Amino acid sequence: MSASPDTDNRIRHLLGLDALPRPQLEALLRRAQAFAEGEQAPQALAGVAVCTLFFEPSTRTRLSFQLAAQRLGAHVLGFDASTSSTTKGETDLDTFRNIEAMGVRGFVVRHKGDGAVAALAQAARPGTAVLNAGDGRSHHPTQGLLDMLTLRQAKGEDFSKLKVVIVGDVKHSRVARSDLHALRTLGCSEMRVCGPASLLPDDDTLHGCFVTHDFDAALEGVDAIFMLRLQRERMSEGLVESLDDYHRDYGLTSARLRRAAPDAIVMHPGPMNRGVEITDEVADGPQSRVLRQVANGVAVRMAALEALLAAA
Ligand code: NCD
Repeated sequence: MSASPDTDNRIRHLLGLDALPRPQLEALLRRAQAFAEGEQAPQALAGVAVCTLFFEPSTRTRLSFQLAAQRLGAHVLGFDASTSSTTKGETDLDTFRNIEAMGVRGFVVRHKGDGAVAALAQAARPGTAVLNAGDGRSHHPTQGLLDMLTLRQAKGEDFSKLKVVIVGDVKHSRVARSDLHALRTLGCSEMRVCGPASLLPDDDTLHGCFVTHDFDAALEGVDAIFMLRLQRERMSEGLVESLDDYHRDYGLTSARLRRAAPDAIVMHPGPMNRGVEITDEVADGPQSRVLRQVANGVAVRMAALEALLAAA
């Protein structure tokens, strides 16, 4: 189980959204909305030490977790694998245990390995909380939450009549997986998934989704478009012919956007490949919610850290 409520219904670790029941997901979104509106809790994590333990690069996720923890009054330690003793061969588990031994109680962990964050959570002492900041292609729960918050702010809390489309490299995307878990939990009525066959997963990720390779058709009448980064590091695997072909078939342009509902919103988790999956005009246009997503990221991470680490 990846979001593991313990006996008093408190979430112990936040590892994924697949096992997070709807009431707890909605409670996190409500609290995040309050933080987004300016609510403050400067003492909530007073005296608590939180470490952002990143074994993979990050801009938004790491900085917004650090800012969120600071706003709650925590001590924040940053860890960057490239300048740490992991370069001398220290294992991830030894790294984690050593920082835990210093008295750190909150760990925000990003790792390239699927399941690597859950493995550290398994090894955690009682009282230590682990938040997944992205593992492999599996989970990115706070990104899923901030995407849901952004969608609620634009479209209201009832997802039962919403049509959404997730576009691009779904196969390698932990963001898409977490978004789909959350959309299902919140009762979204129509989830479309669109991308080239080589970039769509063949496991149960797409359960309940309408799948198509035709981007123009997929956009018809949708209320929200979740664009994904084309993970260029996959190009060497030959999964995409060329960036130009990809842009022609799956790039979101202003002309294409007109197929969606007139008030449709456009989201992208960042980092964006401008001119590949999204044009400047759309990324910076009136329907873009890209920077709103980033702002919501701080609020969602405050809600998550508070839920796991504040004194009961
Ligand atoms: C994403 C990630 O790292 O999973 N970025 C993010 O956290 N905002 C998406 C990506 O790298 O494509």
